[in-house]
Amino acid sequence: MSALVVYESIYGNTRAVAEAVAEGLGGADVREVTELGELAEAPGLIVAGGPTHMHGLTTGRSRRMAHEAAKEDGAETERPEADRGLRECLRDLPDGGGALAAAFDTRLDRAAALTGSAARGIARRLKRRGYAVVATDSFLVEDAEGPLEEGELERARAWGAGLAERQPAGG
Ligand SMILES: Cc1cc2nc3c(=O)[nH]c(=O)nc-3n(C[C@H](O)[C@H](O)[C@H](O)COP(=O)(O)O)c2cc1C
Repeated sequence: MSALVVYESIYGNTRAVAEAVAEGLGGADVREVTELGELAEAPGLIVAGGPTHMHGLTTGRSRRMAHEAAKEDGAETERPEADRGLRECLRDLPDGGGALAAAFDTRLDRAAALTGSAARGIARRLKRRGYAVVATDSFLVEDAEGPLEEGELERARAWGAGLAERQPAGG
């Protein structure tokens, strides 16, 4: 069964998690949102992840803020200041028809009530598009620009491996 991991990442932390999840899955097509293009049909499993910005998914404004902050700090950013984020990418997905899906985010290590979580909004959007969301999780960064907290990549790999077990046999 085909597995697709689609992610958005400004500073690279969510990309690292996406790649670790794909490793855990035992291989998957890993695509940044601006590289995905239009899908002809739903993959067997889709995993979608993005950074938490202002308690939810990124917006054009939050992405600009992130790029500006990076410039001020002399930090590297991963992607161009594109109009397209995970929000737009999920809106354009083909109907899931009940295909399996999972959602993750990266966010700060504080109570979720304080930080918010993009994963919740990602899961809600996947469900709306007809996908059966079987897992939702957050992976934690030490600061807005990262790095990921210790052990988070291992946890992401294990999370991916757990998702692989959810796929129907023969996949
Ligand atoms: C504009 C902006 C808003 C943010 N808002 C939140 C937030 O509401 N909650 C949170 O936990 N983290 C917040 N963060 C921190 C991001 O979650 C963090 O930058 C992200 O996980 C890093 O992922 P990336 O390296 O893939 O871009 C914010 C960061 C930026 C730049």
